[in-house]
Amino acid sequence: MKISLSAATFDKSAADIVAVAVPSAKTKFNKAIGQIEAVTGKGTIKPLTIDERFEGKASQTLKVAAGGRAKARWLLLVGIGEESDPQKVAWTLGHSLASAARAQKTAAVELPKVTVKSVRAVSQGLIAGAYRYVEYKSDKKSSAGLTSAVILKASKAQRGLVAAIKAGRSLAESVNFARDLVNRPPNDLNPITLARAASSESRKLGLTCSVWNKARIKKEGMNLLLAVNAGSAIEPRVIHVTYKPRGAKKKVAFVGKGLTFDAGGLCIKPAGSMIDMKCDMAGAAATLGIVFAAARLKLPVEVHAVVGSTENMTGSKAYRPGDIYKSLQGKTVEVINTDAEGRLVLADVLTWTARKLKPDVMIDHATLTGACMVALGPWRAALYTDHDSLAKNYLAAAEIEGEAFWRMPLDEDLKSKLKSPIADLKHIGGRYGGSITAALFLEEFTEEMKWMHLDIAGPAFVESAHGRLPKGGTGFGVATGVRFLENLR
Ligand code: BES
Ligand code: MN
Ligand code: ZN
Repeated sequence: MKISLSAATFDKSAADIVAVAVPSAKTKFNKAIGQIEAVTGKGTIKPLTIDERFEGKASQTLKVAAGGRAKARWLLLVGIGEESDPQKVAWTLGHSLASAARAQKTAAVELPKVTVKSVRAVSQGLIAGAYRYVEYKSDKKSSAGLTSAVILKASKAQRGLVAAIKAGRSLAESVNFARDLVNRPPNDLNPITLARAASSESRKLGLTCSVWNKARIKKEGMNLLLAVNAGSAIEPRVIHVTYKPRGAKKKVAFVGKGLTFDAGGLCIKPAGSMIDMKCDMAGAAATLGIVFAAARLKLPVEVHAVVGSTENMTGSKAYRPGDIYKSLQGKTVEVINTDAEGRLVLADVLTWTARKLKPDVMIDHATLTGACMVALGPWRAALYTDHDSLAKNYLAAAEIEGEAFWRMPLDEDLKSKLKSPIADLKHIGGRYGGSITAALFLEEFTEEMKWMHLDIAGPAFVESAHGRLPKGGTGFGVATGVRFLENLR
């Protein structure tokens, strides 16, 4: 989608469809409708809003045929509720426009306020909102969506706007990259092809990407990752992408759970729980999306993405409940339920990352527990860290990007649940507080690093579109991670 700037107002735009913002508060609503009717003709819009119950609520939309002096074919009224932050309004406008205009080719959007931030947000919303997963559709064209969008009342001469479009696009493209990986079916996206996708994107951006095969993983001593991989016919991979700009003062390492399919292993999942388990590499996808966006945006921070990738299958060599393995860290781990595989994979990768990269901050993304969804619902991720300022900064970044997180406790008391009578640790802690005990297990392998764990089991993959999340793979976590990096100092 081409995005450009124009000084024209919405009545002058000859695009197929033009989006305008409509607030919900009564007087503001009437004023906005009045302004539109000043162009389309008195009494042309108000009755439609009543018929269609369009009240300007956030993300509510109403598509009407433009008439009167308007040159466009359609107008899209986009509800913005009570939102007054120009950035959020702009994002909503872009996102609603691109998702509503599947059958149109050209669009325009009038922002209530044109600033560098709002132009970036509308561009981000446009590219993210136009997302469709079409890799396996023979007919990719029929819902191709917008080919161009014009941001109105904005001029190229205004400082920073052209760069703002590029930034919004870079970010949204990285989110879409993560979505594609999550949506790709597990017969085509496995540890090997995931590693290939990461290398080829790295090459395009001039980043280093090193990939370890099984022999190398063995040599490094990642026995927990190897245990999980044992039941699979496909080799595991560790993927390490590095973005290292000159003069960077901070180093952040992201770690991702990359289970390209989680059948549960011998403790096999029932069919209904297994169907979406191609999404179990969404942490890896988010991690890669973040490092690629950081590179596209040329952020002045050193960023690493380290992914542990395997399937969790039931082959005859599969690991068993009752097995004990020695982790890379050195602690021995008693396996209780082979479906709690993510924490095993992450444990070894976290230890390696902490020891070898020694980052200032280490942040993992993982679709780790169903318990997290029981606690927080399907659209919110859990955030765990002992560092208050890190949590605060991350939540602030998430707020701007409209991604939902909630800080959960690393409850010391619950550590007793991970005691094993015969090994150093058990890898699960029973039914209660399942997301917390999973986080506490991970903590054992973080080598006292400044560390944060994000359990994205819910919002990484959703049953139907919700707010900023499209159906299926959502790319959740990328936007917040990048915003956090941008705000670092
Ligand atoms: N990948 C799942 C968690 C998950 C569930 C992600 C639903 C996305 C949606 C994870 O590997 C898992 O199976 N966890 C088990 C742990 C249990 C056996 C302690 C779970 O949550 O049931
Ligand atoms: Mn599992
Ligand atoms: Zn899993």
